[in-house]
This record gives sequence, structure tokens and C-alpha cells, in this order.
Amino acid sequence: MDAIEAIKSRKSVRKFSSRPIPDNIIYDIIDCARLAPSAKNIQPWRFVVITEPKMKQAIATITDYGKFLDRAPVLVAVLCSNTQYMVEDGSAATQNILLAATAHGLGSCWVAGYDKYYEKSVSILLNAPRDMRLISIVALGYHDNPIGRVKKRELEDVLFLEHF
Ligand SMILES: Cc1cc2nc3c(=O)[nH]c(=O)nc-3n(C[C@H](O)[C@H](O)[C@H](O)COP(=O)(O)O)c2cc1C
Repeated sequence: MDAIEAIKSRKSVRKFSSRPIPDNIIYDIIDCARLAPSAKNIQPWRFVVITEPKMKQAIATITDYGKFLDRAPVLVAVLCSNTQYMVEDGSAATQNILLAATAHGLGSCWVAGYDKYYEKSVSILLNAPRDMRLISIVALGYHDNPIGRVKKRELEDVLFLEHF
């Protein structure tokens, strides 16, 4: 699958099969995450791969719109050290995770982390260094039922040439 196909076919998946994800695929996805652009090339990110059912359950329980997280075979928590562009940098890495997952035939969903009421609790659960901020939690897994795409704004509604 090329990059354009991955971008155009990616969609949020919140229901997964129990099929495990091979380690080499998880490692490749994180490898893609670390290659994301970052301001001044600071690369403030760290990635925590979570497969332990109790940890997934604990995280799912304290989120609002992430209750499905305990049913994903793998979660990846994206954390960044507290730098000026940590949100942008962490978001770029998160998007790389979603696209790499798509290219590997996996479903994925970005769950908000930064500034959420549960950000601190999740960071504590993960034993994260105090100066790191949670940017996102990504659910990863194979999915049986192909789901439709949510409605997107049409190209002509969002594209302006030279000025509004
Ligand atoms: C910053 C951000 C936070 C999000 N947080 C959640 C979340 O907490 N729970 C969830 O189910 N989806 C979350 N999503 C996924 C969006 O709901 C999803 O991307 C959007 O509905 C568009 O659907 P699509 O991903 O299939 O294109 C988040 C996406 C982004 C970019």
C-alpha cells in the first residue's frame, strides 16, 4: 500500500478481532512514529506499547470516549517532554502511527490525551517521568467488519486558491 492509499483508506476503528499483532509489525509502527517531523528536530516523544489486560482496562475505565480501549489488542501511549511544540510533534508522530497501522492492514483509533482530565492519571499509571505530557493513546488491532467512512467535507468546501 502506498502513502496516498494509506491516507485515503485510514479511518477510525473501535472494534477489533482478538487476532494478535505480530511484534515485528508493532516495532515497525513505532519505527514510523519516531521518523515524524518535529520542531527543531527535538523528537520529544516516547512511545509506550501496552498489551497487559489490566493496564488496558485501567486506562479504558478512566477515559470518557476511550471505553473501547480495553478491547484493542495493543495500545500505544504517545508522550512528549514538555517542549514548545510538543502537541504538534506528538500529533505528527500519532498520525504516523495511524498511517503505518493502515499500511500494515490494522485498524486504529486516536484517543485524546493532552489536557484531558485523565491525562495525569494515565501518566501515573504508566510511571511516566513527571515532565512528560500525554499526547494521545492509540488503539491498534485487526478488524473483521469493514466499516464505512464518516462524512468528510468535500474538497471544494475546504480548498481555496490564493485567498478565501
Ligand atoms: C485529537 C483527536 C482526539 C480524538 N479523540 C478521540 C477519543 O477520545 N475517542 C474516540 O473514539 N475517537 C477520538 N478521535 C477520533 C475521531 O473521532 C475521528 O478521527 C473522527 O471522528 C473522524 O473519523 P475518521 O478517523 O474515521 O476519519 C480523536 C481524533 C483526534 C484527531
